[in-house]
Amino acid sequence: MVKIYPRFTEAEIKARGLNPAAMPQHVGLIMDGNGRWAKKRLMPRTAGHRAGMEAMKFCVRFSHSIGVKALTVYAFSTENWKRPITEVDALFNLLAEYFYRDIDELHANNVKMIVIGDLGRLSPKMRGLLETAMERTKNNTGLVFNVAINYGGRAEIVHAVRSLVEEGVKAEDITEEAISSRIYTAGQPDPDVIIRTAGEERLSNFLLWQAAYSEFVFTPVLFPDFGEEAYTSCLKEYMGRTRRFGKVL
Ligand code: IPE
Ligand code: IPE
Ligand code: MG
Repeated sequence: MVKIYPRFTEAEIKARGLNPAAMPQHVGLIMDGNGRWAKKRLMPRTAGHRAGMEAMKFCVRFSHSIGVKALTVYAFSTENWKRPITEVDALFNLLAEYFYRDIDELHANNVKMIVIGDLGRLSPKMRGLLETAMERTKNNTGLVFNVAINYGGRAEIVHAVRSLVEEGVKAEDITEEAISSRIYTAGQPDPDVIIRTAGEERLSNFLLWQAAYSEFVFTPVLFPDFGEEAYTSCLKEYMGRTRRFGKVL
């Protein structure tokens, strides 16, 4: 039996101290601190990644419940190949397990799963799994769940510009709109807020193009501990910000 995620009423959202009218449409999430979480417990780093996977599942469910339209999680960066091969393998095995086991549940909850990143470097098996998951959920109309795997913001921009040039687009037609239409999240609103856990305050090559006007919220909570309390508190902080977009308000 798959789990059907609850959809909170306005009153239930307000009861959590959140303003339904100010809910971000798109949340970006840099899931950091799995290794430190494990180290604190004298456990292998992989155990931290497994616990992080559970926290990620919670974030998908909770985002759906509160009416966020799109969630983008940073699962594996182009720089993460520099980690020991054993850790890289363990991360991909966990991701494969997740996409194999949870795709029925995501689909049953009308979630549209999109992998962003360069899938060319992944094993054919992993690529097949991801492509099947995307294909299966492509017509879903609920939460858009973007999973960044072998993702790098600079590589994404290079890829977008190259695809325009390859099509013979003239220099004067390489506009912001044209580039926006070729990045991996084309057609989706830019993230209103980017949350990073584990106390680090940097983007690490995440959504560089899309983050032009995002609000940033940093929390010291290590990602495996990022549950309802921490997520809600980050959203409250975001809701307290004034977004000016260059204007005088
Ligand atoms: C998860 O946390 C991020 C991934 C690359 C999956 P880390 O593995 O970076 O954890 P820390 O930063 O070493 O604590
Ligand atoms: C960013 O976290 C990448 C992911 C969350 C997948 P890292 O832990 O790899 O980032 P740095 O190396 O601390 O910047
Ligand atoms: Mg880290």
